[in-house]
Amino acid sequence: MHWFTRKEGVLHADEVPLTRIAEEFGTPTFVYSRNTLERHIDKIDGAFNDIDHLTCYSVKANSTGAVLKVLAERGLGADIVSGGELFRARKAGIPAEKIVFSGVGKTDDEIAYALDEGILMFNVESESELLAINRGAGEKGVKAPISFRVNPNVDPKTHPYMATGLKKSKFGVPQSQALELYEKAASLDNIDVIGIDAHIGSQLTDVSPYREAAERLRDLVNAIKAKGIDIKLIDIGGGLGINYDEEHPPDPDVWANMVIPVLKETGCKLILEPGRSIVGNAGVMITKVIYIKRNEDKTFVITDGAMNDLMRPTLYDSHHTIVPVIERGEGRELVDVVGPICESGDFLAKDREIDMPLEGDIMAVMSAGAYGKTMSSNYNSRPRGAEVMVHGEDIMLVAERESWEDLVAREK
Ligand code: LLP
Repeated sequence: MHWFTRKEGVLHADEVPLTRIAEEFGTPTFVYSRNTLERHIDKIDGAFNDIDHLTCYSVKANSTGAVLKVLAERGLGADIVSGGELFRARKAGIPAEKIVFSGVGKTDDEIAYALDEGILMFNVESESELLAINRGAGEKGVKAPISFRVNPNVDPKTHPYMATGLKKSKFGVPQSQALELYEKAASLDNIDVIGIDAHIGSQLTDVSPYREAAERLRDLVNAIKAKGIDIKLIDIGGGLGINYDEEHPPDPDVWANMVIPVLKETGCKLILEPGRSIVGNAGVMITKVIYIKRNEDKTFVITDGAMNDLMRPTLYDSHHTIVPVIERGEGRELVDVVGPICESGDFLAKDREIDMPLEGDIMAVMSAGAYGKTMSSNYNSRPRGAEVMVHGEDIMLVAERESWEDLVAREK
């Protein structure tokens, strides 16, 4: 459910016509609906009310300060994967004791920063990293709270680039090594073992893999506890899918009902790391049609938004629904929607039947709230677009469009 609806033929974000945002702030621009964001927070966080839990929003999905601030106000924590994400989360007011730190390549500087802030837990992904954290904590005379991210070897049935819990994946430690690593960690002076973690993949539309992963985590927790090591937190990662096209992702309640019965008996507190399911359908990207070009075999709708602004179609062949903001009644046509970048792979949609716009019209690329701005780049020396948040009738510019000067600002 989202708040991007048509009123008298014009697509709105909450109460604001998207044409107005295009006029005031230009294009391409990401537009977020605060009402939608809050609804998703309530739905997902609320689904787990039957168990002691903390929702640590996965910052990589959308790290814009205004978005993080809404989440902070609603009491959410954060799942971060870099010093930069920790900086953003803290700046937005997310308390350090609600932050978990994931990722396979944490550097000494990032570890030191996280220790200084006093984060909830490091999700450790290798023995070398465990030793680096122990060293870093030793230098500061503190104990670092850790879990191991265990690779449960579960197939999440998603795009191969978004599967992270298979044996061949770079993420986590193998289940077969987990017990030994927990014993080693417990023996270190500056490590406090407190949890266990798994994240099996992203854009999951079937929740049964979560059950399998939860069962493996529960069994491991029992085995670790039998060695006299206490586990207080179980982190089941994120990954719940959203509706881009014809998918039917399960309701958050279904996800919750799949894992709570398995994990409740452990007595542990549950950590969740949802990203996309909170922000994905709370944002769209608006873009202007520059030209319509009819070649012999193909019609191209050429927009000012490109793969540098929204990389998902190019990178994963992902579907994003594209609709004109004003209905023109020009009929439907099979087209490629492409950007101005000098790459054949620069497209927002390929061989797609769409409601035809006119040149100069604004189109909305739906479901662009997650992995949109955060994966954007300056390729072809294109300044990145603006970001606007809408709340009822209020419009807030939350990130300015970059300028040409910004492109060279750091060059010497
Ligand atoms: N936790 C960890 C450790 C993760 O690696 C991820 C996502 C999440 C949580 C959040 O997953 P979510 O709930 O958003 O599915 N760029 C891709 C998605 C890559 C996801 C990477 N990890 C895309 O555009 O679809």
